[in-house]
Amino acid sequence: MLLSWIRVDLLALLVCLLCNVIPIAAVKHENFKRCDQSGFCRRNRAIADEATSNEDSWASPYTLDPATINVQNGVLKGIVSKSLGEGYGPVSFPLTITFLESGVVRVSIDEEKRQKGDIELRHGSVARKERYNEASKWAIVGALNNDRRASPSMAAEATTIIYGPDNSYKAVIKHFPFAIDFWRANEIHVKFNGKGFLNMEHWRPKIEKPAKEAIEAKEDQQPIENTDAGEDESTWWEESFGGNTDSKPKGPESVGLDITFPGYEHVFGIPQHAGPLSLKQTRGGSGNFDEPYRLYNSDVFEYEMDSPMTLYGAIPLMQAHRKDSTVGVFWLNAAETWIDIVKTKVRTNPLSLGTGRKIDTQTHWFSEAGLLDVFVFLGPTPRDIVHAYSDLTGYTQLPPHFAIAYHQCRWNYVSDDDVREVDRKFDKHNIPYDIIWLDLEYTNERKYFQWDPHTFPDPLGMQTQLDAHARKLVVLIDPHIKNTHDYSVVDDLKSKSLAVRNKDNDIYEGWCWPGSAHWIDCFSPDAQKWWTSLFQYKTFQGTAPNLFIWNDMNEPSVFNGPETTMPKDNIHYGNWEHRDLHNINGLTFVNATYNALLQRDPKVPKRPFVLTRSFFSGSQRMGAMWTGDNQASWPHLAASIPMVLANNIAGFPFSGADVGGFFGNPEKDLLTRWYQAGIFYPFFRAHAHIDTRRREPYLAGEPYTKIITSAIRLRYQLLPTWYTAFHQASVDGSPILRPHYYVYPGDEAAFHIDDQFFIGSTGLLAKPVVSEGANSVDIYLPAGKTFYDYFDYTVYRGVGKSIPFSAPLEKIPLLMQGGHIFPRKERPRKSSGLMKWDPYTLVVVLGDENEMHAEGELYIDDGETFDYGEGAFIHRKFTYAPSISSNAPMGILRSQSLTPPSKESKKAKAYLQSMEHVRIEKIVVINAPSQWDGRASVRILEDGQRERNAGLRYWKAEGGKTAWAVVRNPNVGIGKGWKIEF
Ligand code: NOJ
Repeated sequence: MLLSWIRVDLLALLVCLLCNVIPIAAVKHENFKRCDQSGFCRRNRAIADEATSNEDSWASPYTLDPATINVQNGVLKGIVSKSLGEGYGPVSFPLTITFLESGVVRVSIDEEKRQKGDIELRHGSVARKERYNEASKWAIVGALNNDRRASPSMAAEATTIIYGPDNSYKAVIKHFPFAIDFWRANEIHVKFNGKGFLNMEHWRPKIEKPAKEAIEAKEDQQPIENTDAGEDESTWWEESFGGNTDSKPKGPESVGLDITFPGYEHVFGIPQHAGPLSLKQTRGGSGNFDEPYRLYNSDVFEYEMDSPMTLYGAIPLMQAHRKDSTVGVFWLNAAETWIDIVKTKVRTNPLSLGTGRKIDTQTHWFSEAGLLDVFVFLGPTPRDIVHAYSDLTGYTQLPPHFAIAYHQCRWNYVSDDDVREVDRKFDKHNIPYDIIWLDLEYTNERKYFQWDPHTFPDPLGMQTQLDAHARKLVVLIDPHIKNTHDYSVVDDLKSKSLAVRNKDNDIYEGWCWPGSAHWIDCFSPDAQKWWTSLFQYKTFQGTAPNLFIWNDMNEPSVFNGPETTMPKDNIHYGNWEHRDLHNINGLTFVNATYNALLQRDPKVPKRPFVLTRSFFSGSQRMGAMWTGDNQASWPHLAASIPMVLANNIAGFPFSGADVGGFFGNPEKDLLTRWYQAGIFYPFFRAHAHIDTRRREPYLAGEPYTKIITSAIRLRYQLLPTWYTAFHQASVDGSPILRPHYYVYPGDEAAFHIDDQFFIGSTGLLAKPVVSEGANSVDIYLPAGKTFYDYFDYTVYRGVGKSIPFSAPLEKIPLLMQGGHIFPRKERPRKSSGLMKWDPYTLVVVLGDENEMHAEGELYIDDGETFDYGEGAFIHRKFTYAPSISSNAPMGILRSQSLTPPSKESKKAKAYLQSMEHVRIEKIVVINAPSQWDGRASVRILEDGQRERNAGLRYWKAEGGKTAWAVVRNPNVGIGKGWKIEF
C-alpha cells in the first residue's frame, strides 16, 4: 500500500514538474489550440471568409418572419429562420430582444429544437439537451427592468423600435436577411449581421456515412429533415487535440455574429490578454495578429507578450471608441469564445476624393455552444458603458481595508517560524506590510484544510503574532481535492456526489498538485453549502478571523487534461456539459469561498477577501484577481500595465500582477521598478516561484531597499485616496485606474496610450518606468491642463504631446493635476490597520488662473464590516473656490457631507462618534496664489465649534517649481462640516 502511494506521489511530482514547475523560457504553444485546430473556430472563420470574398452576392440565410413578431412591454419576440437550401429545413430560432430601462438592449437567440429537448445525444450522454441558458444566472445581478415605453413601428422590410433616454435611440430590426442596426443621434453606431456572418449551428443527427453502393441505391429517397446537403462535416463530431478526444455528444452547436462599429477606430476590453489596450486586428497584415483573440480560461503560465492567446480569465465586454463617442457590447456566453477584429477604411463622402475617410471596426464573435446573448450599450461615454455594464454584472466588492495595502507572498514561506521571522524582519526594516501569504506547501501533503503538522505546528500562534500588528494571513485553497484515503474532505466529496463528473457520468479524476484529484462542482448548491462548512473555525482548525483565502487553479487547471483543463464533455450540476460553462467555472468556486468566509462569523459578518486567478463577468463582486504566472522580465513588467487597465475598464478593477515577476530572479533595478509600478496596481502583491531566490524588500540591499520602502510607503500614504476610489468602484463600477481615453474621450491623439493612467478621479497621473536602464519617461499631457510633480511641485503644462520627465531609479513619475483635492495619511506605521485613527492631510491642487477651483472626495468606514450599508461611513466632498470679490476671503476650502440623510441610522451615529477625534492635521495647497505670500493665518469655521485661526506658511515659486502653502494643524474633524477662509 505504502509503495503504491509513494508511486502515486512520484508520478504526481513528475507531472507537476513537466507541467508547471520547471522555469522555462516561454509558453508551450503546442498545449493550446490555434484557431485552425478548433473546429468551430475554423467553421465560423470560413463563413466570414466566404461572405467577405463574395460580398456582393452573399446573403445571410437568416430571416425574421414579420408575421411572428410580437412586441409587448419592451420585449420583442419573433422567430428567426435559417434556410438550409431547397428541400431542407428551415430551422427555427426563437428571438427575444429586450429593451431595458437603462437604455441597454439585450438580443438573445435560442434554438427551438434544443429548447424543446427534441434532439438525440450521442454516446449515451446524460448531458442536458438545451443550449446553456444559465450564464446570466451567474453573471447578471441587476438592471434588467424592461423599458415598457419602447415603441415599435412595423414595416414589411423592418421593425423599428424607438427607445432609450429621451427616445433618442433606435433599433432597426431588418427582416430579410435578419440584421439589426442600433442608432443614436441619427447615426448607426452598432450593426449586427451587417456582414452576414450570423451562424447558429442547429442540431442535426450524425448520419453514419453509408458505403458507396448504398448511397446509389438510396439516391431517390427524401433527405432527412434539417440536414443540410454538401457541408463539410469534418469538424462536427469527435475532435482530438493533444491526445485527448472530445466526444461532442451534442454535435456542432456554435453561435457566431459579426458586430460592426461604423466610424470607430479603437476597440478596448475583452480581458484577459497580454497585449495593448487598444485591441489589434486579427486577420493578418503588418503589425496585426493572425489569430483571433481567444477567451477560454486556461493555465497559460509564462505567457507571451503581445498576443491574442487566451489567459486565465474572460470578460466578454468590448468598448468601441472614437472622438467623443463610445459604444459597447457584452457577449454573454460562457463557452470557449474567439473574436476577430478587422478595421476597414471607408470613404465617408464619395465626392471628397481621398479625403474624409474613416475607419469601421468589424468584429466577429463566435462561441462553441450556448445561446446567442448580447447586450448593446450606446454610451456615449466610456463611463456610461462601464457603469451600465456594472449595473448588470455587479460592482467591485468593497474590500476589507487591509486588502488594498501591501501583500507579501512567495511560494512558499516554509514554516510558521519562517512566517514569524519574515514578519519580524519587515518591522526591523521599518517596511509596512499588511498580509503575508502561504502557498501550497503549508498543507499536509496537499490536502487542503489541513496544515502540515511538521512545518506548521502552531498556525494559531503564527496568526496571533500577525494580529499584534493588525496583519493578516492568506492561505491557498484550490478546487482539486486530493484523491487519497483517510481524508474526510475527499470522502465527503465522493459520498455526497459533489464533484464534477466525466462523460460517462462517473466521478471525474484528473491530475493536479496533489496528484490524482477530483474537482468540487460549485455549480451545485449542495456543494456550495458543503464548501461553507469546511471553512468554519471548528472544521478548518488552526484558522483565526485574520485568515483569508486565495483560490488558484480554478480555470480549472488539470495537468493531464486537454489544454491543461477539464475535458469539455465532463458533466456538471444540472447535467450541463463543461463545454457550456467553462469560463464561469472559476467564478462559481470563488463565489462559494466568498460565501463560506461570510459564514465564519455570522453574527457580525466581516468582509471576505478572496483572490482568484480565473474570472468571468461578475467575479468583481467577490474579490481580487491577478494576472497569473508572469516572468521577472522588463517586457512582463510593461505588459502588466495595459493588462490591469483592461480589467479596470471591464468592470473588474481590483487587479494586479505578481510584483517582481513570478518566474525567474529579477535584477535589483527591475525589482525596484516593479515595486514603483506595483504600488499603483489596485491589488498590490509581491509573489515568486518556489525555485526563485528570496526577494523580500529588505534583502535587496541599498539603495534598493530604501527606494522600495519609500515606494511602499507612498502606497500607504495614499491609502485614503485608494479606498475612496475603491468605494466609487463599489457603487458604480468606476475604474480605479483610468486610461487616458477614459478620462479624455475627446483627445484623439492619445486614445492608444496604455502605459500611463489616472488614479480614480483624483487627478493623480502615474507613468511607471518599465524599461531597462531608463532614466526618464515621456508622459503625455492633455492640452490646456496643468500638472505638478508629486514630490517637488515642478510645473508641467499640457500641450497635447508627450513631454520628457526625468526619472532616475529613485524617482516615481507621478503628477498631480490642477483642479483636484485628495486625502493622505503621512505617519509611517507597520500596517494599515495601525493607521486607522491617524490624522489626515488634504492636498489641494490648484490649476492655472482660469482653473482655480478644485474638488475631491474622501470615503472612510470601519474597513471590515458591512455596517457601511447602514450608513456607518464618512463621505465628504472638499471644494476650493477662489475669491469672487476684493473684500471677500482670497479663497475658501469647504468640507460637505455626501451622505444621504436616509443613512442616519444608529450605527451611522455611533460610527461618526467613534471618528470624532480623527482630525485633519495639515492642508497643503499646491500652486497657492501669490497674494497669500505674507499671510500668517487662515480663519476656520467648523460646525459646532468656535471660530478660530490656524497658521499658514507660504513658499514662493522658484526654478520651475510652483508656489505652495501649508495650513498647519487646522484640526478640523474629518467627519465634520467646515470652512477655511484664506
Ligand atoms: C499557480 C499560481 O499561478 C502561482 O501563483 C502559485 O504559486 C502556484 N500555482 C502554486 O500554488
